[in-house]
Amino acid sequence: MTQNSVLAVVLAAGKGARMKTELPKVMHALAGAPLLAHVLTAAKGASIDRICAVIAPGMEEVEVVARALDPDLAVFVQAEPQGTADAVKAAQSAFAGFAGSVLVLYGDTPLLRTETLNRLRRELDDGADLVVIGFEASDPTGYGRLLLDDGGTLMGIREEKDASETERALTLCNSGIMGFRNGKILADLLSRIGNANAKGEFYLTDAVALARADGLDARLVPSEGSEVLGVNSRAELAQAEAAMQARLRREIMAGGATLIAPETVFLSHDTKVGKDVTIEPNVIIGPGVVIGDNVTIRGFCHIVGANIGANAVVGPFARLRPGTALGPKAHVGNFVEIKQAEIAEGAKVNHLTYIGDASVGARANVGAGTITCNYDGFAKHRTEIGAGAFIGSNTSLVAPVKIGEGAYIGSGSVISKDVPADALALSRAPQEERPGWAARLRKQRGRERGGGNNGT
Ligand code: UD1
Ligand code: CA
Repeated sequence: MTQNSVLAVVLAAGKGARMKTELPKVMHALAGAPLLAHVLTAAKGASIDRICAVIAPGMEEVEVVARALDPDLAVFVQAEPQGTADAVKAAQSAFAGFAGSVLVLYGDTPLLRTETLNRLRRELDDGADLVVIGFEASDPTGYGRLLLDDGGTLMGIREEKDASETERALTLCNSGIMGFRNGKILADLLSRIGNANAKGEFYLTDAVALARADGLDARLVPSEGSEVLGVNSRAELAQAEAAMQARLRREIMAGGATLIAPETVFLSHDTKVGKDVTIEPNVIIGPGVVIGDNVTIRGFCHIVGANIGANAVVGPFARLRPGTALGPKAHVGNFVEIKQAEIAEGAKVNHLTYIGDASVGARANVGAGTITCNYDGFAKHRTEIGAGAFIGSNTSLVAPVKIGEGAYIGSGSVISKDVPADALALSRAPQEERPGWAARLRKQRGRERGGGNNGT
């Protein structure tokens, strides 16, 4: 069977009234990426030749997101939200003369998988005129119901608001994903869709009954409900997030990662995880994270925009912010925050430390409570710590500053000048001692060593 060329129209002009939001609905995030990005990624995976997006006036941010994913994307503007058929019409100039298949996808159906689009394409390549992806819903509320004849042939779609009691009881629903054999068939059907219905909108779903009346071959492709969930409300957004997280966790486990309590680990759409990685409970991984082989992420870490080299150990309670690059075997321990910094191979930053705008050389040891003072209230400055350097506990490194290779910084220092390789630098007030002072004080107050009130 030869594959037709294919164009997809992705609808994203709806206001998302049920979300109660100022943000366009398709810009709401799922696993760290806008809903629309998920749909476009699924479409790109199905090697669609051309993708068109339909947006509303003033939705520039949607256009930016869409173009970032597909620079060749064609954007059309639907002047007013008059329904899904009207939205598709906005892109008519792109598909009217198109001889290949045309898919219509809804921007609020983010769990859609490429395989399902490929199944739809196969039906079109096989000669179907119109294909609808349907699913069995445990709760069909809000979805259009698929109307079949006694032989199981798809006859039409009834929107919930227009459905009779009997039709409402149907649980076979419209996913919203449709395919048309070519642009001409779609344009012709659209031209005959009216708006005499409960919402006064032009429903794309009416195309099915019109196609059947014309004797066209309209087919149903079943799919899993978990894959075509439409996001219309915040509750559905949370449901979609849960389903997407479950999918992402399954994928990294299949790739060789151990998740001790998978349901407590949150991943992003683009999280990359190597083999023999262990992620302990309660870890949040935001966008842009790559985790190498044999890494251990201990409990309660928050990681965004970070590259973690093989055999590194992170956490518990570490925060890795964008621009963090941990080399192989690096150790980052509890209550450590790192941003825009490279921690080279085998270096250790184990306790209560902030490293920002810095580089830490191989096998350097950064002691507890070290702070890179990277911000002077006006600009950010860099700290460079050479390979094998030792930074004593509670050191402030006032950037810009360089610590040479193998240098040693005494605990409690405030370092504001560069330190040469292998030198010792310390800046702390000399220690004073007064022999017997504490004993005299206790005597005066009538107390034993270690005595005293226990506080109130
Ligand atoms: C739609 C289907 C319904 C299906 C459900 C699946 C219609 C009439 N109904 O209902 O059969 O079961 O999706 O999730 O198609 N949009 C525009 N312009 C408009 C209206 C909508 O671009 O004027 C876009 C929206 O941004 C959204 C998509 O089209 O991405 C679907 O619109 P929505 O209002 O969410 O339709 P549903 O009521 O969910
Ligand atoms: Ca919807």
